Amino acid sequence: MLKPIKLAKRNFLSSLDISTTELIYILDLAKKLKNKVTNIEYKNKVLGLIFDKSSTRTRVSFQVAMSRIGGTTIDLNPTTSQIGRGEPIKDTARVLSSYCDLIAIRTFNHSDLEEYAKWSTKPVINALTDLEHPCQALADFLTIKEEFQDFRKVVLTFIGDGNNVANSLILCGALLGVEVRIACPKGFLPNPFVIKRAREIYKNDNLLKIIHDPQIAVNGANVLYTDVWSSMGEEKQKEQKDKEFDGFTIDTDLVSRATQDAIVLHCLPAYRDKEITDKVIESKNSRIFEQAENRMHVQQALLSCLLS
Ligand code: CP
Repeated sequence: MLKPIKLAKRNFLSSLDISTTELIYILDLAKKLKNKVTNIEYKNKVLGLIFDKSSTRTRVSFQVAMSRIGGTTIDLNPTTSQIGRGEPIKDTARVLSSYCDLIAIRTFNHSDLEEYAKWSTKPVINALTDLEHPCQALADFLTIKEEFQDFRKVVLTFIGDGNNVANSLILCGALLGVEVRIACPKGFLPNPFVIKRAREIYKNDNLLKIIHDPQIAVNGANVLYTDVWSSMGEEKQKEQKDKEFDGFTIDTDLVSRATQDAIVLHCLPAYRDKEITDKVIESKNSRIFEQAENRMHVQQALLSCLLS
């Protein structure tokens, strides 16, 4: 049985909450758990789940991951708990952390997540906010590692909105020394603080590039990645954004401009034939369903470390 590194009492609100060494450790542990060459048990531990937004992958992968280490989850539905009535976060956080060993939260404002973390006596995990989706980035880089092994040889091009997924990819990419290119329309840049922090982590290497032409951005890339153009909560902007993102669809033509061994990722759920074509999702280049499976393995590794 492999002994996890200790991240006890630490929060995972951002990709920056772990060091490069800890990140690599979590990816390696996830791979061992996936290959069943190690086994970790935390019997009777409880993970509280608070989802203010819909979720399939994040919710179920956390539930299964917790079950695999011998623990359990409590899924708090905001509409049937006092959370939806507007009970202050500082009250909810103190009470829930006296029952649970960990809390994973999906919400809108990142500042609300930070408020939970401030008052919780147990580790808080970001299950997606408007700023970051760090658990998704763990699965993304495990999928990339499985394909290419050496991160320093990887060029990752994200095509689409500079959203929470893009922000976490940039920060994780910086920690791992991966060249990250963001191909987005003008006006849809990633968070400026994220760009600044990533450039500080990369030090002198010019490995983060913001490009507004997807065809230029995919040249020499071996990972193409996209996400929906309108995130949850942006439904009113959908029609306008669809126009702004015209030309940013990952289709077979764009894939053919990348390297021959290029893989395609999407965090899902996808709007087929909008940000990515159905043909590319189902193509030999797609690793989208391996990536989705990896959510469970990386979160099992993360939970094990946070409980150690
Ligand atoms: N990728 C992702 O977070 O999926 P869900 O919204 O289904 O959790």
